[in-house]
Amino acid sequence: MKKLFFIFFFINILAYSQNPNYSEDIAPIIYGKCLQCHHDGGIAPLSFESYVNTVSNAGLIQHVTSSGEMPPWPPDTTFQRYAYENILSSNEIDLITNWIFNGSPLGDTNLLPQMPSFSNDNNLGSPDLEIQIPTYYSNATSSSDDYVCFSLPSNLTTDRQVRAIEVVPGNPQIVHHVLVSVDELGISNPISTNCMAPVGNQVYTYAPGSVPLEFPLSSIDNFGIEIPANSSIGLGLHYPEGSFGQIDSTKVRFYFYPQNTNVREIYTEYLINEGLPPDPPFFVLPNQITQISATYGPLINDISLMSIYPHMHLLGKDMQCFAVTPTSDTINLIRINKWDFEWQGAYLFKKFLKIPAGSMIYANGSYDNTVSISNPNPVLVQSGLNTNDEMFIFIFQFTDYQVGDENIMIDNSVLTNTINNSQYTNNKLVKTIDFIGRKTNTIYNTPILELYDDGSVKKKIIID
Ligand code: HEC
Repeated sequence: MKKLFFIFFFINILAYSQNPNYSEDIAPIIYGKCLQCHHDGGIAPLSFESYVNTVSNAGLIQHVTSSGEMPPWPPDTTFQRYAYENILSSNEIDLITNWIFNGSPLGDTNLLPQMPSFSNDNNLGSPDLEIQIPTYYSNATSSSDDYVCFSLPSNLTTDRQVRAIEVVPGNPQIVHHVLVSVDELGISNPISTNCMAPVGNQVYTYAPGSVPLEFPLSSIDNFGIEIPANSSIGLGLHYPEGSFGQIDSTKVRFYFYPQNTNVREIYTEYLINEGLPPDPPFFVLPNQITQISATYGPLINDISLMSIYPHMHLLGKDMQCFAVTPTSDTINLIRINKWDFEWQGAYLFKKFLKIPAGSMIYANGSYDNTVSISNPNPVLVQSGLNTNDEMFIFIFQFTDYQVGDENIMIDNSVLTNTINNSQYTNNKLVKTIDFIGRKTNTIYNTPILELYDDGSVKKKIIID
């Protein structure tokens, strides 16, 4: 007995001295990349706010991080990279594995990073227009999801330019995604059931973990979208199976530019949109994999692409989209190797991506209509708007290109914050992390967060 105890003790000493520990190595990863969903009251079922909870789920954590399931980030990062990306580096995955393999040591708790807070505070100021759905009881059953769209009057009497959009889920545990549209005509039904997307131009999508959309800022230009007077705001919500009877009251907030601000408009266009009228439908045959492809172009003008939103329904398997310029250069836009309707979103490029006039846009993908748990009796499926129809869509958000656009950072929330908060004084810098929580040294042209000993956080960007 004595001997065994000794050996155990000895191994632990080794682990402490040579291997990753929670306080210094693991907590920064969990706090920065997991807690936004895995906190008490968050969207995910498990909370990893404490060491104890993290250790008691260590095996699962090791499994889902090494398999790439968590954090959820559907785009293929070898194809294109985006703003606000939440992914683990292979080094971080190794740290987690080594830490668990070595007995999950706690380390010196004085070295723990600052616990992030999950209030709805942001640095956008107060909203100029807030629109809330009427109290809604989810109709999802134990085996089917609820998709519902609302169309709510904006009550705007003049056209307004929007600098930021935010969705505040009423019940974060059941709001799986929210599609926000601006419906210029404003004549849709106040509520439509079995609805996958609200009428109008889709301007923002929320999924668990999403940050508000803040249009890019540069010293010269303001970017944004316009909400015309008298338009309606569309909200398309998805409540997952099992949420029957739970209450939601999600709202969307718009932040305006001052009236008469000169704004470079960000357009929202469904450049790839197969199988919807006036085009003929496409069909997804039962018991087989169906390939699909589509093109758009050539582009008439140079564009500065801000984001891309890929979309299929429940049989979608994979999809990709790229541009080919007149000089035969390929510009990768997005590739999703394992489409999951539950984790869809719009992806913002790190900077505006210039796509020159004359470029062609190519897209392809596939549908899996073979027998599976979620599809026990495959039937013929056709393209359309209903839940049980399929879609093949890429929505592009872009503006007309101007020289220098390709240097404008899209991930700019941090830049704005620095302008507003420059009051930090006698506190000591504890450490610097980047926007998704990685420890970092001073880096240029990329937003960083400085954590101070009094708990304050300074967000800044150093322009080189
Ligand atoms: C964007 C939100 C989000 C982020 C970020 C996130 N998760 Fe999750 N996670 C979920 C949700 C939601 C589930 C529930 C299962 C599902 O719906 O896929 C889950 C499930 C899990 C599970 C349970 C899996 C199972 O089979 O029961 C583990 C373990 C996990 N996550 C670990 C992590 C770790 C570790 C990180 C950070 C490296 C992380 N997650 C980041 C949303 C998130």
